[in-house]
Amino acid sequence: MIEAGSSEFTIQKSIDLKPFNSLAISVIAQHFCGVENITQLKMALSFAKTNNLKITPIGGGSNLVLAGDIDGLVIHIDLKGVFAEAISKTQVDIKFAAGENWHAMVGYCLENQWYGLENLALIPGNMGAAPIQNIGAYGVELCDFLQSVEVINLATAEVETLSARDCQFGYRTSVFKQSAKDRYIILSVTLRLSTVAQVNSEYPSLKAILQSSEPTPKDIYQSVCKIRRDKLPDPAQIPNVGSFFKNPIIASEIADALAVDYPELPIYPHTESTSKVSAAWLIEHCGFKGYRKGNVGVHHNQALVLVNYQGNGEDILVLADEIMSKVFQKFSVRLELEPRVYGVPD
Ligand code: EPU
Repeated sequence: MIEAGSSEFTIQKSIDLKPFNSLAISVIAQHFCGVENITQLKMALSFAKTNNLKITPIGGGSNLVLAGDIDGLVIHIDLKGVFAEAISKTQVDIKFAAGENWHAMVGYCLENQWYGLENLALIPGNMGAAPIQNIGAYGVELCDFLQSVEVINLATAEVETLSARDCQFGYRTSVFKQSAKDRYIILSVTLRLSTVAQVNSEYPSLKAILQSSEPTPKDIYQSVCKIRRDKLPDPAQIPNVGSFFKNPIIASEIADALAVDYPELPIYPHTESTSKVSAAWLIEHCGFKGYRKGNVGVHHNQALVLVNYQGNGEDILVLADEIMSKVFQKFSVRLELEPRVYGVPD
């Protein structure tokens, strides 16, 4: 046990990660601690360095597949706090600590009349995880608002600030999944929101349920919550990690060829030469929607979501493999996993 400031700080051994794991499977962390401030985090990093332990940071655990026990030190990031600063008459910068819950913060911003995040309501997980995969839904992405990200560099234990540009955001990706993978732990995220209503109602399924032609931010928020509640399983009831695959980005020529054979396949423009195709459609049209394989399966309302009835992370990965092979066999398109997988041998 190590003392940190006035609060007691403990590094525990052999801890079951079930409470932190959205797929609700029992896996053991060799060492575990929760950190509520930067002093504690620095102590945890120093413990890991002294004992030569690999570090695995976890936030809300909503986008993780834990497929086996985790060696080294698992650090639960539990930093809290929100700080707002007016930038102009119409803009406000809000700095959120990494351990704040994403959806709670979307509601908090709406109450404070800081607009922009409504389309991203009900996304599970914590603030600190949001930049890693550049969360997005209903026509809006985190990178539309992000000003900066404060991180701790694991090699130096120094705090650094990355600009939006440094984060190299793309569709469900960022520098944190690419060249800077495992280099940093995110401490806080600063978003620039608007004090005047900003409404983005163009996403087809959202537009379809909006009653008014001039929706308010609150209308958007409520409609997004409704769509998600109707269509996506609640991880607290049926364990899942949201979309299990990214929508594949393929050469537009290949997408055009697929469109000839499959005119119903939803295809979205991506760059000048590439297109994004609906992974859910491809999976559904391989017959997987509602499919059950032992204790895991594919959700009956959204083919992109794998659900865990009573299985484990390995069962989910076996199912994911089966889906990827079938989709490749039928459409020659490779699916890519969206969540982060831990606990499989390197
Ligand atoms: N579709 C099917 N079968 C299905 C579901 C969808 O064919 O079972 C087709 C429909 O044609 C539908 C289209 O796919 O119109 C798009 O469906 P949806 O709006 O549900 O979006 P998605 O591409 O399946 C993405 C995100 C979701 C996000 C929604 C809404 C990814 C990997 N997923 O899903 O994000 O909520 O758009 O914007 O980009 C997540 O990342 O965890 C997540 C839930």
